[in-house]
Amino acid sequence: MYDVYEIRKQFPMLTNDIKMQNKPLVFLDNCSTTFKPQCVIDAEMEYYTKTTSNSHRGDYDLSVKMDEKIDEARNVVAHFVNCEPNEVVFTSGTTAGLNLVAFGYGLRFLKAGDEIIISEAEHASNVLPWFEVAKLTGAIVKFMPFDECGRLTTDNLKKVISKKTKIVSIANVGNVLGYITDVKSMGKVAHENGAIMVVDGAQSVPHLKTDFKDLDCDFLAFSAHKMCGPTGIGALIGKYGLLDKMSPYLVGGGNNSTFDNTGAVNYRLPPAKFEAGTQNIASIIGFMEAIKFIEKIGIEAIHAHDIELIRYAKEKLKDFDKLEVLNPLGENGILTFNIKGVFPQDEATLLNYKGIAIRSGEHCAKLLHAFLKTKATCRMSTYLYTTKEDIDVFVDALINGGDILDAYFNDQSNDETNHHGSLFRSNQ
Ligand code: ALA
Repeated sequence: MYDVYEIRKQFPMLTNDIKMQNKPLVFLDNCSTTFKPQCVIDAEMEYYTKTTSNSHRGDYDLSVKMDEKIDEARNVVAHFVNCEPNEVVFTSGTTAGLNLVAFGYGLRFLKAGDEIIISEAEHASNVLPWFEVAKLTGAIVKFMPFDECGRLTTDNLKKVISKKTKIVSIANVGNVLGYITDVKSMGKVAHENGAIMVVDGAQSVPHLKTDFKDLDCDFLAFSAHKMCGPTGIGALIGKYGLLDKMSPYLVGGGNNSTFDNTGAVNYRLPPAKFEAGTQNIASIIGFMEAIKFIEKIGIEAIHAHDIELIRYAKEKLKDFDKLEVLNPLGENGILTFNIKGVFPQDEATLLNYKGIAIRSGEHCAKLLHAFLKTKATCRMSTYLYTTKEDIDVFVDALINGGDILDAYFNDQSNDETNHHGSLFRSNQ
């Protein structure tokens, strides 16, 4: 049975009586980052206090043990997403992974006139690397259309894909609306057209069972910090044949086997080819512990927990007519909303006064808000340690907005959700 209260005991951020504005902290910004259980903190601490050494460098026991630990971590990541260990490249996170594909694969293989298909729901990390590579190669970035609800469908991909398309890059779960995209069927369409399929897994891998082999996508990028792991570490999973063909983006110590003074270089085989420089060893070890922690709870159970919390929130809010839900078809732990007549950052600031952390603004997906016809939104997001009591506090704060929001509710001139006035400084 899923025992959220037992799970919470393992998170110092939840047991240390943390306050925000003198109120007990209610953390509902888990798409942004997540808390770390003690086992992850201990694993990092153990590296710094008992096992510090570099990997791939030494002939002494400490260093050899570190090599073994990194191999173990690579195996754990590979098992978690069902790929081969040599298909796991450690990166600093999703952004670095997507940049590696853009510059390591895109820059090498794209030609003028080739097409890259993304969507307007993508996070900046899955837009800007493609813009840059398009500028450098003459390739063209195209956007696949949404359906009427803001979802990305394979049928709509078919409307824009052509034999000129070389790369399709889409998030498995969008970071604003949280809709689950069928990247498996999109990958099939991409392959039929001779393109590769890149998946931004930042918001999906922490919450949904992800099977790289079954998805049959070509690259999958994700971050540890959104799944109870440390910041500054993540993985790019790539089909080995593609990793082998692409260029390293960072070069230096550890990624080459030989070089000479004529400039001739032999790079090591993947994944070492992409891991130049001393790695974030402590965090790789913490990442492994985070995955083991999640596997003990079960990723399907975590997803079911997320869904139940959002269902519960929606049920409690169903008669609150000032609420505008922007992702009514969401199937995971994300509720994206606005309160009619209230600037989203004011709403987030009000919630902050009540000890509640949510995110407001554009959420780095700056192209999406044209479709949503808003300037910004509020996003509440859950994770494996969120309780119904957290949701109760959140719902109560929304419905009984209090003094700050009264200023808006009583002012008929502030009728639109995103008026230009704001009581508070923007925190974007
Ligand atoms: N990508 C993170 C978010 O959506 C930071 O909040």
